[in-house]
Amino acid sequence: MNPIEPKLIRGVQELQAWSDQARCDGRRVALVPTMGALHEGHLSLVRLAREHGDRVVVSIFVNPTQFGVGEDLAKYPHDLTGDLAKLRALGVDVVFAPAADEMYPPGVAPAWVEVEHLTRGLCGRSRPGHFRGVTSVVARLFNAARPHVAIFGQKDYQQLRVISALSRALLFGVEIVAGPTVREPDGLAMSSRNAFLGAEARQQALSLNAALREVRRLHREGEREAAYLIEVARGRIEKEELAEIQYIELCDADTLEPLERIEGPAVMALAVFFEGTRLIDNTLLEAE
Ligand code: PAJ
Repeated sequence: MNPIEPKLIRGVQELQAWSDQARCDGRRVALVPTMGALHEGHLSLVRLAREHGDRVVVSIFVNPTQFGVGEDLAKYPHDLTGDLAKLRALGVDVVFAPAADEMYPPGVAPAWVEVEHLTRGLCGRSRPGHFRGVTSVVARLFNAARPHVAIFGQKDYQQLRVISALSRALLFGVEIVAGPTVREPDGLAMSSRNAFLGAEARQQALSLNAALREVRRLHREGEREAAYLIEVARGRIEKEELAEIQYIELCDADTLEPLERIEGPAVMALAVFFEGTRLIDNTLLEAE
């Protein structure tokens, strides 16, 4: 594919007009929401978007409302120039990079969107308000880009489930497509936050994928007790002296309710700090 210069749009109205035109022309609009500092995980979603739509919009917006007090909003990486260069090679039509005022217009009473029942556990428990921020900005992005389809990564499994519910519950009619987790060659799930890891922590963080692989193996061999599988994962990660486990849970893959025994599709999800950097990862456990 020839590199094309994506159209950089900063304003919501301009994006709406562009999308309306694309829709009038009979084009299927695909949206990939991101917070920038793009890595191969994001780019894999962009490639998937090209398969699911014939016009691709990538949004880049570090959404302040999904960061809690004391979280890493201030040091979250920004690299619009680098991001545009990466997207050029992929045939993206529009990069939407709004200022905060565009997404949260000053002088307008703020409105919030919540998907309560899927956000009580997992990351929702340890990051109060986080998913309210995510759903509130994604609702705005859907209204700004008016996509037919939007692509989200399985890396953030709870987010994916929450957004699927959001789109259906509020009748957005946006098809939600999931992209598989992209990993570094050594197995660490790609994340913008990996850049914060020192060499030692980077090495020890491999325990996350190692633990999930071990759990997948045991599940494949017939193990169904959630408490045992969680203990195995915990034992593997606790071998690393820098690891501070925030949670390891085993949930129904659909409802995200915690399980005692695995009877159907399940997900193990975990969040672990390494020297203050919070990493998440997960694996699906599906019947063979
Ligand atoms: P961000 O962390 O930038 O992630 C953007 C998208 O990339 C999300 O759908 C995420 O699941 C996906 N992603 C991240 N790492 C991935 C990996 N290693 N493999 C595959 N996909 C990966 O998630 C957000 O931004 C925000 O919450 C957002 C949805 C943009 C709302 O602000």
